[in-house]
Amino acid sequence: MSDGDESKDFARTGGDVLRRQWYVACHEHDLKHAPIARTVLGCPLALFRDGRTVVALSDCCPHRNAPLSAGRVIEGCLQCPYHGWRFDANGRCVVRPGVNQATTQETIVKSFRTMVQDGAVWVCLNHDPEGQPPRRPWSADPSFGSFRWSDSVDASFADAMENLLDGTHTPFVHSGLVRSQGKSQVFSVIVRVRDNMAEAEYLNEGKQAGWISRLFERNRSSSFGRFIPPCLAELEYTSTRGTEFVLNSYFTPIDSNQLQVHSAIYLRRSLIPMFLKRMLVTPFFRRVLRQDQHILRLQQQNIRRHDGPHFQSWEGDLLRGWIDTWLRTGELPQSDQEYRLDLNL
Ligand code: FES
Ligand SMILES: [Fe+2]
Repeated sequence: MSDGDESKDFARTGGDVLRRQWYVACHEHDLKHAPIARTVLGCPLALFRDGRTVVALSDCCPHRNAPLSAGRVIEGCLQCPYHGWRFDANGRCVVRPGVNQATTQETIVKSFRTMVQDGAVWVCLNHDPEGQPPRRPWSADPSFGSFRWSDSVDASFADAMENLLDGTHTPFVHSGLVRSQGKSQVFSVIVRVRDNMAEAEYLNEGKQAGWISRLFERNRSSSFGRFIPPCLAELEYTSTRGTEFVLNSYFTPIDSNQLQVHSAIYLRRSLIPMFLKRMLVTPFFRRVLRQDQHILRLQQQNIRRHDGPHFQSWEGDLLRGWIDTWLRTGELPQSDQEYRLDLNL
């Protein structure tokens, strides 16, 4: 892809707005003693721990451009794997072995803002980030157990975010697992924008005609799909006793057509131990994810074949309009908005 194509593609995916945000670079448990490499919005990063804080430096040694992420952490600094130049958390070269030990007070490697929150390492490429990473109530609620994983998706930010929150593809892409073709249900959905999030609430669904619902759910009272800027897609299922299941997927753009998706599942604790739930739930979600990865890859390839998207949207595309609004303007409407429609899925 030429530079021109790349910038056109980033314009389509809201590059300006995306650059000002916080993203999950990795789960906290992914970062141990050794540095790791991640790419956020086309920017290669070397992440390492300095005590309790996490440091993000540009993953390129200024000497001969070796990847710092292949180096070692020594006394809170990152040592380049090639000639051993050592960089502190601010990107200053503090040791330069060889002919002399000359060091510099200048920052010669770019460093980025980081924070650790709710089991995730967050990074922002902009020195003046917009807001804080979103916080969700289940992450600190002891009545929920959780487990996490990461995966990648070949898609634009908006197309992948829409896919996770969209119900209308499920009878076709996930037939038998989430919903089944030919066993449609009619129910109401309320779409609302409030508290800086866009939400679809599905009412009176009961159980869906798919294996996931049959195996893992009590009778559902309602479920929610939420786009929570800047990067969170959330699914919440509730029963008469409250929240039962939450999927939080944090989307981190690697470039304009590839995303890292860092997910956490929260399940209400019960007599069944979490490790067993994890063993039961994981194969289903892996299968669902593979199906979504496949259709998203086909969609992106076809968009490129046809020289960009030519979308015809309809009222069943519940949240895509709000995702696009946010990507265009960097905000959702301040005043609450709400409408209701019936769906047949
Ligand atoms: S390339 Fe890093 S010290 Fe030479
Ligand atoms: Fe899906």
